[in-house]
Amino acid sequence: MATTPDAASQGQGAISALLQEDRRYPPSSEFTAQANAGDAGIYERAKADPEAFWAEQAQNLDWMEPYKTVLEWDVPWAKWFVGGKLNASVNCVDRHTKTWRKNKAAIIWEGEPGDSRVMTFGDLYREVNQFAAALQKLGVKNGDRVAIYMGMIPELVVAMLACARLGAPHTVVFGGFSPESLRDRIQDCEAKILITADGGWRRGGKVPLKDNADKAVVECPTIQHVVVVNRTDDARHVPMHAPRDVWWHRLMDDAKHAIVEPEALDSEHPLYILYTSGTTGKPKGMLHTTAGYLCGTMTTSKYVFDLKDDDVYFCTADIGWVTGHSYIVYGPLANGATCVMYEGSPDYPDKDRFWDIVEKYRCTILYTAPTAIRSFMRWGNEFPEKHDLSSLRLLGSVGEPINPEAWVWYREHIGADRTPVVDTWWQTETGHILITPLPGLTTAKPGSATIPFPGIEADVVDEQGNSVPVGGGYLVLKKPWPGMARTIWGDPDRYVNQYWSRFEGWYFTGDGAKRDEDGYLWLLGRVDDVLNVAGHRIGTMEVESALVSHPSVAEAAVVGITHEIKGQAIAAFCTLRAGNRPGDEAADELKRHVAAKIGPIARPDKIFFTAELPKTRSAKIMRRLLRDIGEGRVIGDTTTLADPTVLAEIRSQYEEKEG
Ligand code: WT7
Repeated sequence: MATTPDAASQGQGAISALLQEDRRYPPSSEFTAQANAGDAGIYERAKADPEAFWAEQAQNLDWMEPYKTVLEWDVPWAKWFVGGKLNASVNCVDRHTKTWRKNKAAIIWEGEPGDSRVMTFGDLYREVNQFAAALQKLGVKNGDRVAIYMGMIPELVVAMLACARLGAPHTVVFGGFSPESLRDRIQDCEAKILITADGGWRRGGKVPLKDNADKAVVECPTIQHVVVVNRTDDARHVPMHAPRDVWWHRLMDDAKHAIVEPEALDSEHPLYILYTSGTTGKPKGMLHTTAGYLCGTMTTSKYVFDLKDDDVYFCTADIGWVTGHSYIVYGPLANGATCVMYEGSPDYPDKDRFWDIVEKYRCTILYTAPTAIRSFMRWGNEFPEKHDLSSLRLLGSVGEPINPEAWVWYREHIGADRTPVVDTWWQTETGHILITPLPGLTTAKPGSATIPFPGIEADVVDEQGNSVPVGGGYLVLKKPWPGMARTIWGDPDRYVNQYWSRFEGWYFTGDGAKRDEDGYLWLLGRVDDVLNVAGHRIGTMEVESALVSHPSVAEAAVVGITHEIKGQAIAAFCTLRAGNRPGDEAADELKRHVAAKIGPIARPDKIFFTAELPKTRSAKIMRRLLRDIGEGRVIGDTTTLADPTVLAEIRSQYEEKEG
């Protein structure tokens, strides 16, 4: 491999074309002239003394006991705000109920069938307390893990905050995951309670959450109770196994008017575990702790989205992913902001569902993903044009690199060429946004996540770790930041190896990036074996393990191929065991199998059957060659291949299929 990552060579055409065009967007528009206005010195201040900057931000939290030291840093082990005590549910809920915000909307929820609900901070306070009391009654104590497997309903937020109140780390498992994925996560963190729903609405159908949960917990001996929210009124069809299963509404009735004293938790007390894909088969349980994470999400929400009390902020992410944790729940609520939360998919019942919601609630901020933006572009301008979107004053993007065309379309057609667009780079591991423009302060360039957030030190380095002033390389973070994951649950060695071993003393992001003459960063995608499909991180190994678990498959290799909407799509190369016939039927069967094993997000787009996989003489599968084939590119250097004829055979099959 050359000194620049694989991905660095791709997409560079578009970038340099754009830079030549130099279509820059000034920091302020009429609408946002006041954004961050009081804080013009923020970059310089933070640069001069990052720890002092974060300490200044930590003053915006409610502390039960003040901390003594801002940062203890023993690479790679960070402790922020050492010695302090606080509670995340107090910071997100209680403190607002002591102000005029008590009767302000915290969550404006829209269900897929069109039902809706508004919860004030006062409502949230009552329900969080009630449910915390219910959890206590089920035996949940400080330190116990609680798994949550639900759709996007307000009870999900209530459940998370109730856990936080008790000091019981939650692990939210995306409702689109399979029973097996749920089981693996519960087993890994040894959760005591599972909270789910009878079902969830998705494109007019019901996702069988309780059925899936039942299948999962059969193999989860640590689970003592399953709490079930009645969302789809499917009570008659949902078998409840007493005494294990209990209805949410019964528990809430029993805990009417309950008030639960929030635990005074250490700054470094675990707040949650969230699983994310890595390069090996097993998902990593990223552990986030209390004070630093809250400080990071609260501060970035405030500056990046320029959150004000009259904002109606709509983040379209699912709370099953980190974006929802940080930018629907903890960050915005800590700021006392009003969040719109939507249950269903953007194209049901029509392709203007998001625009309908923006118009209905007069949303002012929209935070969504490039994959969605590219879908909107393809569906056509008539959908946003049917709606009055003039309430929007700020647009955000997250999850994958946004191509300049999509950026410009987003600004012109959704933002009426008037709103700033913030392209925000971060990861499950980082906890909060690290690279982003600040509205009112940073000139934007379409397709670039621009510059690090104040207090963050990012760099682009070559293979040896030398800083690359202008050009492509690996993105690293050279200083700790408050919201960084502290470890991988139960596997500190893997944490060290995965993130802190590639470059001594620095955090390795796994992303390639290019820095231009202005010091702006252009993210280029993953440089490891992790795919980013429609903004979802999926490990090639996870999909390969799922494929080989099918009785017909002997060996499988999975690669990401460029996809117009999803950014990347999954292509799988499989060799079959003797006696199995390749063909469309077998391919469909394997696609179904992977979707059942992991979840529909991991379903391969293309499956190729081959007598053998191309391997080096040391038996390493040559993914680069497979990517070339999957994308129909001319095949590169094959000199290290053990048997070059293997490749010709796969390629002819590919051409047959595409031709
Ligand atoms: C990976 C992290 C961050 C929350 C959602 C995804 C890619 C994320 C951007 C962006 C280019 C981006 C990176 C990163 N990514 N945001 N604005 N520009 N790439 O969280 O599942 O942990 O994935 O998503 O490749 O490493 P995640």
